[in-house]
Amino acid sequence: MAKITVPEAQLNKNGKAVPLLGFGTAEYPFGSSDNVKECLLNAIRLGYRHFDSAALYLSEQPLREAMAEALELGLVNSREELFITTKLWCSDAHGDCVVAALQTSLKNLGLEYVDLYLVHWPVCVKAGEYELPVKKEDLLPFDYGSVWKAMEECQKLGLAKSIGVSNFSCKKLEKLLSISEIPPAVNQVEVNPLWQQQKLREFCKEKGIHITAYSPLGAKGTLWGSDRVMKSEVLQEIAEAKGKTLAQVCLRWVHEQGVSVLVKSFNTERMKENLDIFDWSLSPDELNKISQLPQKKGFPGLEFVCPYGPYKSTEELWDGEI
Ligand SMILES: NC(=O)c1ccc[n+]([C@@H]2O[C@H](COP(=O)([O-])OP(=O)(O)OC[C@H]3O[C@@H](n4cnc5c(N)ncnc54)[C@H](OP(=O)(O)O)[C@@H]3O)[C@@H](O)[C@H]2O)c1
Repeated sequence: MAKITVPEAQLNKNGKAVPLLGFGTAEYPFGSSDNVKECLLNAIRLGYRHFDSAALYLSEQPLREAMAEALELGLVNSREELFITTKLWCSDAHGDCVVAALQTSLKNLGLEYVDLYLVHWPVCVKAGEYELPVKKEDLLPFDYGSVWKAMEECQKLGLAKSIGVSNFSCKKLEKLLSISEIPPAVNQVEVNPLWQQQKLREFCKEKGIHITAYSPLGAKGTLWGSDRVMKSEVLQEIAEAKGKTLAQVCLRWVHEQGVSVLVKSFNTERMKENLDIFDWSLSPDELNKISQLPQKKGFPGLEFVCPYGPYKSTEELWDGEI
């Protein structure tokens, strides 16, 4: 297969263009494979340029090693050719921890700046631990003002080209927009044919916030996912009739919604398969069938909900947008 060039979209005016298909680095359990660097290097070799990491995933260090080797091997000419995202974990979502947390991530990544730094969840836990599930007794109210001011500082210091959030509802974005000097460039959220997020996508389009879709295949085999998407009969029928795989149908569908998409595979054949979505399209009839699929969020975030915590129900966590 010839190396595929992934289309891009411009983020905020000072930000870099983001490749519309990115490589997810969240394997579960986090840090459980010993060949992550090789997988990431392979991904670069195949044409992936956008890598989604997080302090939580333990993938920053293997990503540093893969980037260094890719440069050495001439797979990329410079760091500028890569788009690197990482995320602030909930235990660092305290105003006075944010800049230091990004500096630690940058050290792990061996970079001077990331292309995108995201608040991983609108959730704060006691400082110290990097774990999912979080300890419910550690849950604290999320302080929008101090956390976002520190995120803005990260961009002003040049440590992040763009800043954004993840797992934010429309209501939470409204609140953030009302206090921000630099608006979030991105909201990274779950999007797949079984959780299409029409309302959030429209809201973000209107506000100029780019959506990045995670778990486009439903994240089977992880704490936050299931095989519901990969077992969908409707998607399977469409895939068979089209001579594509179900995964490709999901990824193409997300792509056609005008958002960027992250997919994780540490398997070379599936990495290739997932890249091969740019020279064909879904028909109006296929899109119509997908639009009628029953909707259910795969990752409601029960881990962050607790009767004595700041979010007492998933309704509160997602502001009823679930
Ligand atoms: N911001 C957040 O809160 C958040 C939450 C979840 C995910 N994310 C990001 O989004 C990325 C992608 O989402 P995800 O990892 O949750 O789920 P996903 O990409 O929907 O699914 C990954 C699973 O699908 C398998 N897979 C990949 N390609 C396949 C194919 N072509 N055919 C069959 N199976 C395939 C993978 O196994 P193999 O590796 O064996 O191929 C893995 O088990 C993450 O890695 C992470 O970077 C962010």
